[in-house]
Amino acid sequence: MKKRLWLSLALAYPLMLTGAHAADAKQPWLDAAQSPDARADQLVKAMTLDEKIQTVFAYFSTEFSPKKHEQPKEGRPDSAGWVPGIPRLGLPSQWQSDAGVGVATQAVSKKPYERTSLPSGLATTATWNPKLAFAGGAMIGSEARSTGFNVLLAGGVNLMREPRNGRNFEYGGEDPLLAGVMVGEQIRGIQSNHIISTVKHYAFNDQETNRNHIDVKIEDQAGRMSDLLALQFAIERGQPGSVMCAYNRINGDYACENNYLLNEVLKQDWKYPGYVMSDWGATHSTIPAALRGLDQQSGFPFDKSDYFNQALKEAVVNRHVPEARLDDMVKRITRTMFANGVVEHPVATPTSTDAGIDFTAHGKVSQADAEEAIVLLKNHNDLLPLAAGVRSIAIIGGHADVGVLSGGGSAQVYPKGGSAVPNEGPAYFPGPIVYHRSSPMGELAKLTKAKLAYNDGKDVAAAAKLAASSDVVIVFGNQWMAESFDSDDLNLPGKQDELIAAVAKANPKTVVVLQTGGPVVMPWLNNVGAVLEAWYTGSNGGAAIARVLSGEVNPSGRLPATFPASLAQLPRPKLDGDAKTKDETVIEKFTTDYNIEGAAIGYKWFDLKGHKPLFPFGYGLSYSSFALEDLSAKPAGTGIEVTFSIKNTGKRDGKAVGQVYVSSLAGGWEAPKRLGGWDKLELKAGASGKASVKIDPRLLGVYDSASKTWKIAAGEYLVTLADSAGAKPAASVKVKLDATTVDVNGR
Ligand code: BGC
Repeated sequence: MKKRLWLSLALAYPLMLTGAHAADAKQPWLDAAQSPDARADQLVKAMTLDEKIQTVFAYFSTEFSPKKHEQPKEGRPDSAGWVPGIPRLGLPSQWQSDAGVGVATQAVSKKPYERTSLPSGLATTATWNPKLAFAGGAMIGSEARSTGFNVLLAGGVNLMREPRNGRNFEYGGEDPLLAGVMVGEQIRGIQSNHIISTVKHYAFNDQETNRNHIDVKIEDQAGRMSDLLALQFAIERGQPGSVMCAYNRINGDYACENNYLLNEVLKQDWKYPGYVMSDWGATHSTIPAALRGLDQQSGFPFDKSDYFNQALKEAVVNRHVPEARLDDMVKRITRTMFANGVVEHPVATPTSTDAGIDFTAHGKVSQADAEEAIVLLKNHNDLLPLAAGVRSIAIIGGHADVGVLSGGGSAQVYPKGGSAVPNEGPAYFPGPIVYHRSSPMGELAKLTKAKLAYNDGKDVAAAAKLAASSDVVIVFGNQWMAESFDSDDLNLPGKQDELIAAVAKANPKTVVVLQTGGPVVMPWLNNVGAVLEAWYTGSNGGAAIARVLSGEVNPSGRLPATFPASLAQLPRPKLDGDAKTKDETVIEKFTTDYNIEGAAIGYKWFDLKGHKPLFPFGYGLSYSSFALEDLSAKPAGTGIEVTFSIKNTGKRDGKAVGQVYVSSLAGGWEAPKRLGGWDKLELKAGASGKASVKIDPRLLGVYDSASKTWKIAAGEYLVTLADSAGAKPAASVKVKLDATTVDVNGR
């Protein structure tokens, strides 16, 4: 049975606080006036070998019966991890919780934390608004703190090489700059609460199928210009305290014992000062992992052995692992705790289950994010926003009468009062399927005079009948995605495509609202009136969807990933690794070749191959219209400075995203163009605004593995201003650059 020990924790904690504040000559590391590095050096010197080992080894903080694991008494209940503190030295515990959309609960819990959920990470990226990413991060970080966590396992930034990836909803889409900036801002927001955030999963964990073993083949140059670049941008922006190494192998070695990734790229080249923690079950050894750069083993007993416990101690005693390396691990962990304020601002044990959180205010933060995330993909004859004269609306499918869908797995945040649709999907991880209690139908009822009628969509003929007798139809298409599996194809699951086709046939004034983890195909697209991609909208998602439908909110989301027209357009029409294989000896042989597309992910691949997607990266409509104007660009330092303006030429106030793409006219790039920057402006009807964008030199050059530099070739570069990666540019200018070399970090 799980024991809840709020009370004993509450009693024990003040002792630790006393230690934390007692900076005196004997405990100089508690003097916050010193640098985090100096403090950590002093602390490490004061630690015994056992205390060092204790700091690099984390326990799963949830009962786990298959491994006969009990929840550690001092861990937070039903959470991802706990590392014991050292009260005699004033070092608090590390209490770790998932994840990127809010405070999650491990799926085995019967009494989950009920917390605010942001929209999915992909949705937040679709806002193209870094301020919202920061605000959302700050909000969930504050809930983590209130709940007693000082490490939030957020910051998912794996690039969307694979639109079927079950975890795309946790990540930031397909472009290294967009994903890096948006996820980096979220991390910055989280850490503004004096807690630590991770960035994850390092690296190339871009599919779930056989994620624990699949060996990703990728060359250095292609990796540095794609997935690693996204991570690099996110780390520079967000300065996450920790990097979580991934499950998969890269060029033969597991990510958590991969010298190239951990020691060479992360620690030497990027000079990353924080610590590397393993994903849960991603540690495979003691000596290789320690020597190749892992700093903390996570979530024991997920791994086969407690590699960083007594085995590591023995390896240090026997000098297979130098004690200096153990000291480096501990220093990285503790300097980060000092740097992030975890020691000076200790988290407390919550005294109530809701931890004093202002859920109304936090729901509004989530809603603001969702409202800008929704992408209007089609709007024939201005079917949206719903006209004032509409008298009857049929709402069909997707449980839209009670709630909004969310993504599953370790990142699952539970709503107050539990899921709006109980007992759906797998009973255990990565299920159950959770619906946030914000009903699109209920919220729409507050905004329209039309009569609303609901049909659950299970009986296609009955749904079509209701559609035929209504002025307008709003049909929901749901795709539940979760950690641990990928989708088989890009179609909506079950009979939903058939349902949508049938209601559209009965009534062409059909609006489709998609709640999906990522891209889907739309075989019914030509026959429906309007399409909104809502993603997973979070705690207040119903209100966000209703406000976009009614026109209270003018949609301004833009696709953070290409929507392919078919699987045949992808670099790997068939996913590598057989999801059904259970035999570990076979699984270990699976590889996947990311050199096929190399750094040409998403729109870059589509440009290269001349494929026409269903909807291009960057695409999204508005209830208003905008003109992109006054483009100018000039060399500035090692980059390019671009200015432009946007005019709202329509009749409604709204927001528009000016996207700056850049091409090398001499060629030599992985693809014809790259996103160089963007700006999102809020403009009243008729108003114009100015924007400026600085293109990072790494987006103008090509990474050279031999010299570890980025080389920008002399010549002409075409800078274009466009609505999307697929649109004809509104304007373009040429910029002449001299040959330039910048270092691995773009400086
Ligand atoms: C996931 C991580 C997560 C961890 C802890 C793993 O299964 O891959 O993203 O942080 O579990 O729950």
